[in-house]
Amino acid sequence: MSEPIRITDVAPRDGLQNEPKPIPTSEKIKLIRSLCEASVDEVEVSSFVSAKWIPQLGDAAEVFAALAADPKHLERRPVFSALVPNEKGMLAAAEVNHNAAERILDKVSVFTAASETFSQRNTNATIDQTIERFAPVIAAASRDRLLVRAYISCIVACPFEGPIAPAKVADVIRRLATLQDHGPIHEIDLGDTIGAAAPETIAAVLEAAGEEMNRSLPSAVITLHLHDTFGRAGACVETALDLGIRSFDSAAGGLGGCPYASTPGKRAPGNIATSLLVEIARKRGFETGIEPRKLAIAGSLAQSLRSAL
Ligand code: HMG
Ligand code: MG
Repeated sequence: MSEPIRITDVAPRDGLQNEPKPIPTSEKIKLIRSLCEASVDEVEVSSFVSAKWIPQLGDAAEVFAALAADPKHLERRPVFSALVPNEKGMLAAAEVNHNAAERILDKVSVFTAASETFSQRNTNATIDQTIERFAPVIAAASRDRLLVRAYISCIVACPFEGPIAPAKVADVIRRLATLQDHGPIHEIDLGDTIGAAAPETIAAVLEAAGEEMNRSLPSAVITLHLHDTFGRAGACVETALDLGIRSFDSAAGGLGGCPYASTPGKRAPGNIATSLLVEIARKRGFETGIEPRKLAIAGSLAQSLRSAL
């Protein structure tokens, strides 16, 4: 049997967070259901962040409540996750499960960066302050037996600071590892926020990150989160597979982009399309479990939600 890779579709979160026009909650639910039908391993459903910062995802609780109310979907569903920046977000995320007949949120994702400027712009906090904010989140996640993912953005370059050294990424992993006193961190998600990576730069950062993980977070896995600005994300996936990475984020329809990575006149780039990731994995002999025809339906649906700019 061929070796599996894990695919987390982030279209409902990263894909939609930057959309300027309000998208009805019912449309988001349709997209998430189509991803469930396509058999992706995980879906990043939404974010429990400030609606002033990300208005598009202000309905996170409603989206989860609607998913929880549909028993048909509880029979066979992917892991559902959501972004959580601080204790307030964690309280809202925990409510989702407390209000549901059966658990519907499985994983919370905290997020920081390897660039101080990006961290400030994205979360109004230094990298150290973001990590301090995560302590009560991780403690609560551990109490509720939720999985924890920790994102690091700008692993190759920052839209404001330019190139980022791999050593900076390793240093953030080391600082995140100190949070293990509060509870487990299961996954480090490395984000090439603006799609600046090429095979050589992604290899350098994966090697530096892997060494630090062996030292300070040996039980966590690395996930790679690529944006595809220059059409190099596919080549970066190939390099990552060669280096043993088996967990990837992608977005149906290639949607995506962080509003706080946008610069004047230039919208933040989309995530690698899930269809491209599946195609590369298949050609390399990896198993994804994804149904291509159903994924194509999800991709079309995702693109139909994108406003013409
Ligand atoms: P702040 O303004 O510094 O927070 O924002 P604050 O603690 O001073 O609170 C200000 C207001 O926000 C208060 O409300 C709080 O109650 C409220 P007010 O009194 O003004 O009415 N508030 C919240 N409301 C709802 N949920 C919360 C929450 N926290 C405070 N959790 C904060 C700090 C972190 C909240 C803000 O900066 C924020 O929400 N940032 C989110 C930015 C974001 O979501 N960015 C996109 C995701 S990251 C990304 O896309 C990159 C990634 O894809 C990987 C990659 O590609 O690299 C993951
Ligand atoms: Mg992203």
